Amino acid sequence: MLNEFHNRLAVVTGASSGIGLAVTEQLLEQGARVLAMSRQIGGLGELAERYKDQLAWVAGDITRQEDLARLGTRAEALGPVDFVVPNAGIAQLADGLDVAAFDRQWAVNGAGALNTLACLRSHLAATASVVFIGTFLANVTFPGLAAYIASKAALMAHVRTLAVELAPHGIRINTVSPGPTATPIWSTLGLKPAELGDVANSVNQRLLDGEFLKPGAVADVILFQLSRGARSVYGQDWVVDSGYTLR
Ligand SMILES: NC(=O)c1ccc[n+]([C@@H]2O[C@H](COP(=O)([O-])OP(=O)(O)OC[C@H]3O[C@@H](n4cnc5c(N)ncnc54)[C@H](OP(=O)(O)O)[C@@H]3O)[C@@H](O)[C@H]2O)c1
Repeated sequence: MLNEFHNRLAVVTGASSGIGLAVTEQLLEQGARVLAMSRQIGGLGELAERYKDQLAWVAGDITRQEDLARLGTRAEALGPVDFVVPNAGIAQLADGLDVAAFDRQWAVNGAGALNTLACLRSHLAATASVVFIGTFLANVTFPGLAAYIASKAALMAHVRTLAVELAPHGIRINTVSPGPTATPIWSTLGLKPAELGDVANSVNQRLLDGEFLKPGAVADVILFQLSRGARSVYGQDWVVDSGYTLR
């Protein structure tokens, strides 16, 4: 059955693992063409075999303007672009007064995400839908992640006004804030396995269904926000966190 994603073009960054990989897979299942970007091919290798006519990959780093320029060129050739998910992100534990940690994480989570949309701006379809990725931590605390949280909160604030600025140009922008999701990002924090286990146990206690979210559960909401079903939703942040922030 044809649906609104069929044969339309989506650009997804950070598509090699976790939430970005799940978004890419769901879009491909719906018949979309996906232009994916990440530094490593990761899980995209397997998807490329299954969906060779629908999936294109640009190897690149969203903090490098020359890589984003290549993404823009490829998008122009395949376009116009109907959907954009600037999902690539990093999380690093750091001292709360280590301001350089903010700069490092903003370079990917904030500037990288905004520059991704900037490089695609002139290749968007007459109406396009964009979903940025925030975090469930934006309104709570998590010692060691102050700079990460700040980088995401700044992006979320930026995007709210951007949604108003770009709406008259047919571009609908929202944010999805994933809760604790079982992806490789947790193992990049630099915690020892036992410490990571302790963090996971205490996080699980706050989740209403008792376990980290599956990437597909976040991807489901991202696809809905991209879709016509959410056509009247502008500049919102939808938290998908199994109730973590309720208690
Ligand atoms: N998992 C959670 O609990 C959680 C919670 C809240 C928000 N989030 C957000 O969700 C998004 C996806 O994260 P995830 O949990 O799915 O983690 P993940 O599995 O580690 O995925 C991160 C993705 O970003 C890519 N990436 C990182 N730096 C990049 C760069 N400079 N240029 C291009 N690609 C880059 C990685 O691919 P390469 O290494 O191949 O480049 C990977 O595909 C992030 O924005 C994250 O902050 C996650």
